[in-house]
Order: sequence, then structure tokens, then C-alpha cells
Amino acid sequence: MVTTNRFDVLIIGSGAAGLSLALRLPDHVRIAILSKSSLEEGSTLYAQGGISAVTDPQDTFESHIADTLDAGAGLNKPEAVRFTIEHAPAAIDWLVNLGVPFTRHNQTGDQDRFHLTREGGHSTRRVLHAADATGRAMETTLAGEARRRDNITLLEHHIAIDLITAGKLGLADNRSLGAYVLDRTRKQVSAIPARTVVLATGGASKVYLYTSNPDTSSGDGIAMAWRAGCRVANMEFNQFHPTCLYHPQAKSFLVTEAVRGEGGQLRLPDGSTFMERFDERGNLAPRDIVARAIDHEMKRLGAEYVLLDISHRPAPFIREHFPNVYARCRELGYDMTLEPIPVVPAAHYTCGGVITDMYGRTDLDGLYAIGEVACTGMHGANRMASNSLLECLVFGTAAAEHIGSTLTDISEPPALPDWDESRVRDSDEEVVVSHNWDELRRCMWNYVGIVRTDKRLARAWRRVDLLQQEIQEYYSNFTVSSDLLELRNLAQVAALIIRSAQLRKESRGLHYTLDYPEADTTRPPEDTVLKPPAAGDTDLENDRQRAAN
Ligand code: FAD
Ligand code: SIN
Repeated sequence: MVTTNRFDVLIIGSGAAGLSLALRLPDHVRIAILSKSSLEEGSTLYAQGGISAVTDPQDTFESHIADTLDAGAGLNKPEAVRFTIEHAPAAIDWLVNLGVPFTRHNQTGDQDRFHLTREGGHSTRRVLHAADATGRAMETTLAGEARRRDNITLLEHHIAIDLITAGKLGLADNRSLGAYVLDRTRKQVSAIPARTVVLATGGASKVYLYTSNPDTSSGDGIAMAWRAGCRVANMEFNQFHPTCLYHPQAKSFLVTEAVRGEGGQLRLPDGSTFMERFDERGNLAPRDIVARAIDHEMKRLGAEYVLLDISHRPAPFIREHFPNVYARCRELGYDMTLEPIPVVPAAHYTCGGVITDMYGRTDLDGLYAIGEVACTGMHGANRMASNSLLECLVFGTAAAEHIGSTLTDISEPPALPDWDESRVRDSDEEVVVSHNWDELRRCMWNYVGIVRTDKRLARAWRRVDLLQQEIQEYYSNFTVSSDLLELRNLAQVAALIIRSAQLRKESRGLHYTLDYPEADTTRPPEDTVLKPPAAGDTDLENDRQRAAN
């Protein structure tokens, strides 16, 4: 039984961020890694294009930094950008030593050099990749390594419900003490105590109806940190990837930006190109610009999709560089070596998140956040392609070093109260949860998407507010299920996104509103920082941690 175990570090999430942190901690540290699905499942597994790093002697840190700042539209924290980019080569060396099979330059016969591809916003080729399945290569390598470590306990199909804090238990010196966790297989909730807790739960793109992300991206870490009293920032910057394969029956499937990096052209249904009308960088402009241009053209023409065309490149080149995209297209009846394929934008990445410092520390002592759940300042108002996996690795390492050097100063947590289910019953209305799911995601897609207005945001706020009340009532009365927990978190995150979008009275990066279509240059660029109300003023009243106390 999990409750009898005490861990030094509880890592919630087993993507690139969580696993790299675990593997970077010293061997004597007792670690538990939670994964709400199977160990490998998460956005990392599906990453395609690659990981950016300065490895070419012709490239420079200054150039990678300048491109990242330009994409981020003035909201990046320069120290976070420099830190991440300067640590990239070491992160790549680490991955290579673990055995990640990055594609090499076989065309020239020079097997020592990485093949570098190019993506939107990058002024040069600097993206390392493993064909078009870079995330799978990384995730399976890291997971394989984690399975071999004796000091790591892997808890798959375990979903964290909420953080347990000294403050919530009425103890002095507020800090994180562990988490309540639902074992999805046994349908049991346990309290897992730990001296340090790390949120590595990924993003929240599932808040939108159409997304490139797997089901794990429900914003759990952001919602849990918020309920534990941590500030979040920049939640209005929701990245929509310009090119997901359009197929009425298929779930959104990403078509990597590297297709454009290798010469792919966006075209309108009549075959004409259009990106040159929106940005001088054309098809390789940063993602916010390309997604908005596609959205604009689709609305203008009443089109259901635009086209992505790489059929002018030799078929063997396409099949070698994009084997997975090619195979998926073939399954759905398209041959990208012969014809353009239909694409649409879909929600892809959460630029905002839990505010952290350069070690991944949050506002709450003993709580860290790394990877997509965090807002380190690296991405600003728009993340540049292939900078996310990099941030996961660099901040995973920085947090591991900090935790490793401070762990001995932190005492074991006290005995934690059991989860109390005495006042709840099994739900007889599961269907309400699925209806609310659909309503929430549709509302966010319709009113808080690529193009916003004050009116649409106000409409979305009213609906999400009502949904939150219903969900809270449901949560207070019924036994928890993973669907209910995720819905509760998504509704919380939706509210944070709308609030942040309402506060930003300008268009910047990924936040574009017809009411304020220009960037506001009259005031200094600022993050949108939201601070939770003090405990007791919020839904914590209904929280069963308090009931249990
Ligand atoms: P994830 O990899 O999403 O992992 C999250 C983990 O948290 C999972 O293990 C999940 O089970 C767990 N979890 C979540 N909530 C809970 C909970 N309540 N309890 C327990 N466990 C929980 N970025 C790039 O840099 N380059 C790319 O080429 C690229 N391509 C992409 C392609 C696709 C299709 C997608 C979806 C994303 C892509 N990205 C890319 C973005 C990048 O993959 C992600 O930002 C990154 O992998 C996030 O890693 P992570 O470790 O933070 O989270
Ligand atoms: C892609 O391959 O287009 C995704 C890259 C990213 O999200 O960084």
C-alpha cells in the first residue's frame, strides 16, 4: 500500500521534465514518480519536430536567444532564456549518452554530425531530431532508464488529486507535505507524504475542443498549485499549432513544422500561396503569426482547411524524414509525396503556468514546477518551436541540483490525515460529467480561441463560472473519478485563461483581440500574474483535505 511509503521526492508526472529530474537526482534519494496513465503517455511521447540547441559551429547562443526573444514578443525573461539556451548543449550530450538516437547527417556520409532541421522562428537550422518522432525516442529512453533505477518507485495509473500543505492542515510554516492520490486501478485514495513535491504534469491544451495533445494535458498541476496558493502567470498565451491534419473522423494529428522547415508550403484550397502576405518569413514565421493567418484565410473563404504541400520534394526524402506523418496520412487516404494534405490549427501548448524561479521553485516551500506546467519566463507570449523539450531538460536538471543540495535540511513530513469519503456517495449521474466536459471545451474553442473579443470573453466567463459551481457541487458530494478530477482542473484552468485574457488589453504574441488589435507600447511589457485568494475564501472550504482535518 502506497501510504506506508515515505519518499524524499514525489514527482507528479513522467514526461521529459519529470523523468529527467528523477534521473538527475542522486542515487540515494527515495523517489516516487506518479503517472496518471501509463509511464510513457504524455505530450513528450508525441513530440515530433525535435529539440533546439546550438550544436553547429556556425550557429551562436546569441542567435538562438535573439530568435526566442523575438518569438516571445517582449515578454520572455532574458535570464531564463539565456540560462536555458546556454545549457542546451550539455542537455543534448546527456541524452546522447543515455542512447537517444538523434538523426545523423547521412547524406554527406558524415555520421558524427547531427542532421539539423529548421522550424518557425529559427533563423537557422538548429533543431536536433529523431526523424519525426523525437519525443518517442526521448521518452522511451528516459523511461527505460527510470525502470532500471532501484531508488525510483513508479506509480502508473495514479492521479494526484491535490497537494497536501502545512497551511491546509492548520500547521505553522506553510510548505508542501505530499499529495492525495487516486489509484485508478484499485479506485483507492491515499496520502503520499514526501519531503519535496515536484509538479511535472504538462500543459492544459485539453481545455480546447481540438488539440494536438494527448488526454493527459488537463492542467492538473496548474490547478493544484493554484489551490495550494501559488501564483500563475501568462495563462492567456495559448499556442495553437498551425498544422494539424484535417480529417472529419480522425482525432487531431500534428504535422510537424519541420515539414515547412524542409520546404513545405501552405496553400489555399485553390492552390495559391498566402503566407507571404502576412510575414516576410512566410511559411517559417513564428507559430502565432502562421496560425492567425490560416484562421483569417479560413474565415475569409469559409474554408474548412488549408493545404500543406511538400510534394515537390523527392518521395524517398519525405519518407525518410517524416516516416510517421507519412504513415498516418496514408492511413487516412492522403499521399503527401504526391499531393498537398489538408491542415487546420489546434490547441498545442500552454505558455503560461505556475510561476517559478531558475531552480523550478514555486511560491510554496518544498514545491517545484518544471516543464510545460511551469512559467519560467523562457517563452514569453509565444513559445518558439522545439524550445519546450529543451526547457523540460534544463529545468529538470536545475531543480534536481537544488533539491539534491537542500534535501538534508528538510524534515520528514508529519503523519497525514486519511482521505475522508464518509460524506460522499457514488455518483448516479456520470453523464453530467461528460456533458460538462464537452460544454467547457466547446465554449473555450468558440470564445477564447485564436481571435478574441471582450464580448466573447465575458460570455465565456459567465458559462465557465456556472460550470465551476456545478462541478464543485459534484466534487463535494460524489466519490472522485479521474474524469471528475480532470474536469474540475480544466474548469479552474479555463477560468484562469479567461481572467488573464480579460486583463490583457492589447494584442501580443498568442493573445489577439479585435478590441485591442495592437501591442500597447505605452506601458512596459508585463506578465499577467494571478494570485489565488487566501485559503478559506475559495473552494478550499469544500475541499476534503479540510473535511478530513
Ligand atoms: P508531459 O510530457 O505532457 O507529461 C505530463 C506527465 O504528467 C504525464 O506523465 C502525465 O500522466 C502526468 N500527469 C498529469 N497530471 C497528472 C496528475 N494529476 N497525476 C499524476 N500524473 C499526472 N516540443 C518541442 O520542444 N519539440 C517538439 O517537437 C514538440 N512536438 C510536439 C508535438 C506534439 C503532438 C505535442 C502534443 C507537443 C509537442 N511539443 C514539442 C511540446 C512538448 O512535447 C511538451 O511541451 C513537453 O513534452 C511537455 O513535457 P512535460 O514533461 O512537461 O509533460
Ligand atoms: C512540431 O514538430 O511542429 C512541434 C514542435 C514544437 O511544438 O515545438
